[in-house]
Amino acid sequence: MKIHTKAVHAGDRKASGGHTPVTTPIHTATSYFYQSMEQLDRVFAEEEQGYCYARHDNPSAAALEGLMCELESGDSALACASGMAALHTAILTALTDRRRSIVAASAMYGATTSLLMNVFEPSGAAIHFADFCDLDALRAVVAEARPGCIVMESISNPLLRVAEIDAIAAIANEAGAALVVDNTFATPMLVRPLELGAHFSVHSVTKYLAGHGDVLGGVVVTKQPHADTLRSLGRTIGPVLGPFECYLTMRGIKTFPLRMERQCANACRVAGWLASHPRVERVFFTGDPAHPDQAAIRRLFPANLYGAMISFEIRGAGREEVFRFMDGLEMIVRATSLGDVHTMMLYPVMSSHRELSPKHRQRMGINDNLVRLSLGIEAAEDIIADLDQALAK
Ligand SMILES: Cc1ncc(COP(=O)(O)O)c(C=O)c1O
Repeated sequence: MKIHTKAVHAGDRKASGGHTPVTTPIHTATSYFYQSMEQLDRVFAEEEQGYCYARHDNPSAAALEGLMCELESGDSALACASGMAALHTAILTALTDRRRSIVAASAMYGATTSLLMNVFEPSGAAIHFADFCDLDALRAVVAEARPGCIVMESISNPLLRVAEIDAIAAIANEAGAALVVDNTFATPMLVRPLELGAHFSVHSVTKYLAGHGDVLGGVVVTKQPHADTLRSLGRTIGPVLGPFECYLTMRGIKTFPLRMERQCANACRVAGWLASHPRVERVFFTGDPAHPDQAAIRRLFPANLYGAMISFEIRGAGREEVFRFMDGLEMIVRATSLGDVHTMMLYPVMSSHRELSPKHRQRMGINDNLVRLSLGIEAAEDIIADLDQALAK
């Protein structure tokens, strides 16, 4: 089945008694009981399919996890309370029984960098950063660091670099490391990391998958042999997603392929317009034919879908001018997040990469005149008109 069909049908509709609801109900029960203690014991031992306690498993979460396995070609998934909880759990799972050394892409979401430096490093893991778009440089860092885990984003936040996941998975396998890919920006419409050899694909479902700005959630999708470790760690540390959020996420996913196509088309139109605007210094967009990772993009992404994020620098602007420009937006929402039905703009220096030092941001290439635009599903003409009037201000 194609992704549009899977998004509507997969995981959902379990028979309940004599009837089958057309969508999975919100199962709020924290505990389940059975005809006998013998049967409950078999469910605890996983000899019989069933549910005992909501931190272990829940029918609403199981439906979402089944759906995500279909979309990402995984064997097992864990729905988590946020994208960060999902990344934390994925990296912990990847490091289980492996060397406590992590090689991570130098260009990533600020909180992911903070997770590595402020949580994993103090707990004894060695953290090494590398440019993942330079495979020779990455091989050298991996040879030196001998990592147990490698972490990257399929499209980097916010400068939209695209590294070759399949080549990096080969490097990881050779080094005996597990590759964790944050697939939030690309989504399974563009790339399915597990099909390219990655060991974990992680999402903030808060973004494109749920898509309506009303759910905070995450998911880890993996294949054997990591599935059992992922489940048992999930049960122990309890990062699980609540049933209402599972329901909202599944509801969002039904229309996600349609939304994503429209959002990608809007991004192409708006990026072309921004590139010729005299007040715009530089546009970062994966659909730009001059993008530095053009070869990887052509090889890994389907034709005409490049993602729906654009970052751009405003000529000669500092924080004050960026604030004036963003305050001048009338329809585009000035807020932190991305992937929603409404177009949103964020100032990385102030939000997504705020936790990093100015020096660290500078090294990453995140300048004070950079803004990040997440395209929604509105008419492209209206998005362009709003940018135009705000840039004029
Ligand atoms: C690429 C990426 N990964 C992970 C996250 C974290 O997701 P959440 O806010 O759901 O924890 C974000 C949040 O913006 C993100 O942009």
